[in-house]
Amino acid sequence: MSVRLGVVGMNYWGPNLARNFDRLPSCELAWCCDLSTALLDRHRASYPATTFTTRYEDLLADDELDAIVIATSVPTHAALARMALDARKHTFVEKPLALEVADARALAALADERQRVLMVDHLLVYHPAIQAMKQLIDSGSLGRIFYLYGNRLNLGIVRPDENALWSLGPHDISVMLWLVGERPVEVSATGESYLQPDVEDVVFGRIRFPSGVIGHLHLSWLDPHKMRRMTVIGSEKMVVFDDMETERKVTVYDKGPVPRTETYGEYIQVRSGDIHIPKIAGTEPLRIVCEEFVSSVAEGRRPVADGHAGAAVVEVLDAMGKSLVNQGTPVALAQAT
Ligand SMILES: NC(=O)c1ccc[n+]([C@@H]2O[C@H](COP(=O)([O-])OP(=O)(O)OC[C@H]3O[C@@H](n4cnc5c(N)ncnc54)[C@H](O)[C@@H]3O)[C@@H](O)[C@H]2O)c1
Repeated sequence: MSVRLGVVGMNYWGPNLARNFDRLPSCELAWCCDLSTALLDRHRASYPATTFTTRYEDLLADDELDAIVIATSVPTHAALARMALDARKHTFVEKPLALEVADARALAALADERQRVLMVDHLLVYHPAIQAMKQLIDSGSLGRIFYLYGNRLNLGIVRPDENALWSLGPHDISVMLWLVGERPVEVSATGESYLQPDVEDVVFGRIRFPSGVIGHLHLSWLDPHKMRRMTVIGSEKMVVFDDMETERKVTVYDKGPVPRTETYGEYIQVRSGDIHIPKIAGTEPLRIVCEEFVSSVAEGRRPVADGHAGAAVVEVLDAMGKSLVNQGTPVALAQAT
């Protein structure tokens, strides 16, 4: 089955999605949509078989269209996704799924009710390096997971309408929730707005999971380092994902603490063994994401980054946002029944 889809939002990120979907053999890029004709004009020549429009309604009204890909500004995600699902289209939404928890949960429920695929672009979850880390964790080779932390830093684009938490956080939060595989019980965050009032440029977040695992985030676009890193500390091994590296994306350290039995475990020795660098496929993660969406639609199955995963990330973002304005006061998260 070939999936006919349309991409909405063709400014910065949407064209990357259009390019990847267009190159998939099992996919037809039927529509490109943006409110700006000038932006559409920039891309017409690349996709001669695609119809370009400024009217989102054109996509909703196309009975032959299977799916809609939403790459518009974040505040528009919820309303556009609802319209797509109401029109019975399979729906792909850029991160974060929505700004409000209630909207995110309602979208996940609507997709279930309509039996449509709802997928969120939790890009890193599909990164071959993160997949390799997940395998290491699930195989038990890292031992018991103690904690993990992510660094997403740059002297980069300063967004006027979105703080570092909402702009950068979805990547690391989606990965942490997936790697740990638990619903967090509590989060907290502190941060500061140095460049613009009430838009935090630097955020330190903390996620506590029921098993005792702690996740820590350092998010900033006001930093001399360009860093995209995730570190997982286990009782047997420690593993680092470094997306700035080209050949050494994942490094596994055979290091860990060893209790000293002769002193009743009073103090701990350190075991330091080999360092291993597994080979990681160089496939563009966005291509894998696009393939996953198209095959989920074709096979009628749920992707890992479905609407519920998207809503879980929004819950963490929302709770961290509340903690942020209360100087880091922890916020409890409701547990699923
Ligand atoms: N996954 C990633 O790594 C990644 C990276 C960058 C951006 N993003 C996400 O991609 C999305 C888009 O980011 P951006 O920086 O390109 O945003 P942007 O605000 O620069 O562009 C959004 C575009 O959507 C269009 N638009 C808005 N409402 C529309 C409507 N009703 N109908 C048609 N077009 C409409 C606007 O005209 C604009 O051209 C955001 O959700 C962002 O979070 C994801």
